[in-house]
Amino acid sequence: MSLTNAPDPAIRAAIVKQDLDNVLHPIVQHKLLETRQIVVTGGHGSTIVDADGTEYLDAMAGLWCVNIGYGRAELADVAAEQMRQLAYYPHTAMNVPAAELAESINGLMGGGYHTYFVNSGSEANEAGIKIARQYAKHEYPGQFRFKTVSRYFSYHGTTMATLDAGGLGERKAKFEPFSGDFVHVAPPYCYRCPLGLKHPSCEMACVKNMETTIIGEGPESVAEVIVEPIMSAMGVVPSPDGYLSEVQALCRKYGILLHVDEVINGFGRTGKMFGHQHYNVSPDIMAIAKGISSAYLPIAATVVKNEVFQSFYGEVSENRQVGQVNTYGGHAVSAAVATRNIEIMLEEKLAERAAETGAYLMDGLRTLLRHPNVGDVRGKGLLIGVELVKDKATKEPIGAEKLGQVVEACREAGLLVGRAGAGGKMGNTVALSPPLVITRAECDRVVEILDRVITAVCV
Ligand SMILES: Cc1ncc(COP(=O)(O)O)c(C=O)c1O
Repeated sequence: MSLTNAPDPAIRAAIVKQDLDNVLHPIVQHKLLETRQIVVTGGHGSTIVDADGTEYLDAMAGLWCVNIGYGRAELADVAAEQMRQLAYYPHTAMNVPAAELAESINGLMGGGYHTYFVNSGSEANEAGIKIARQYAKHEYPGQFRFKTVSRYFSYHGTTMATLDAGGLGERKAKFEPFSGDFVHVAPPYCYRCPLGLKHPSCEMACVKNMETTIIGEGPESVAEVIVEPIMSAMGVVPSPDGYLSEVQALCRKYGILLHVDEVINGFGRTGKMFGHQHYNVSPDIMAIAKGISSAYLPIAATVVKNEVFQSFYGEVSENRQVGQVNTYGGHAVSAAVATRNIEIMLEEKLAERAAETGAYLMDGLRTLLRHPNVGDVRGKGLLIGVELVKDKATKEPIGAEKLGQVVEACREAGLLVGRAGAGGKMGNTVALSPPLVITRAECDRVVEILDRVITAVCV
């Protein structure tokens, strides 16, 4: 069965049945899919199309990832051409597209980095965690540095280690217990400061708390600190000024690697090529995924500073090489598509465009602060969170159920938005992460629909 032409309700119904009878979907309840589903058959720009012809403005770019927008046929040509030339060979050998892509990434970082290829953001962070541990084994003989320090309410992936690195208890509960190798500290969530303080008079108490944690754990047991510069899952919360550079200073002080998760923040999303570039820090390890290929094919990477790379370099007898392999790492077709995707971003100045359109969208969304239920509007570039509260004075969260109603009402109005927040009652933020090609007219629609929906659902 295929559905590329005119909408046909009978074919759509048959596909829905085929799916329900055979597919196990991630994270959504199947019972809901029985009555309400999107069968995506196409997309263009910031719009996706259902098999019944309904168009949705996708203000989430899929799962925060289709940065250059839908329907870029030229990437299909790049993939086909590379597949004819060479689809795949393991990355223990070299291939042309992966070498080109690594060079391109190194250029985006201003030089000084090597890239290790994997297939998803989770794998990129997982490899980063393992590289930090292996680095510590090489560089600190006699010490046992294996811990990762992370922040509560962060999300770093779905594998056991990256889920453990994340700080979302609700996401972890079904899979506990975890190893205990991941130590969590309070996040820099200034709208709801966990320490009850105000920035900047707090004098970055959360970083001091991180230092206390490192000292308490024993610095010689800590391999790395992992941070997402703008914390997406927590509710799209940018780092306060000065925070990341103080975290970096802490890492340097205790010989700990700084691992930056750019899986969502990266590739133009925040108005710069990488999120950390807003904050004047330089990652030792960086995880990238999603926007690297705008999800046209799966590919991701762990990018390491040359000082880290050097630790893995030596005689064969020293056994210093990266101690893992994954079958599809450096896949030639995915790499060729990712390289062209990055070229498109640079040619069309999509990071700059994200900064400009993001500022426009942010201005529009800030008008929603007049609603009694809109507590905070924040973000950078085209990565934005609208936090909903029951009461602005107490900041009591509006609740996950109400947020679900907002998301559903937006969908009925033809707008796809995401949900974020610290989980439970705190899952109270509308997330916006549209393709970087979203137009101003489409931004107006986002604001207009959210305005209408919040009025109808929340008050
Ligand atoms: C910040 C962050 N890191 C890592 C991941 C994991 O990426 P993936 O789903 O590709 O494994 C995600 C996924 O959304 C993410 O948001």
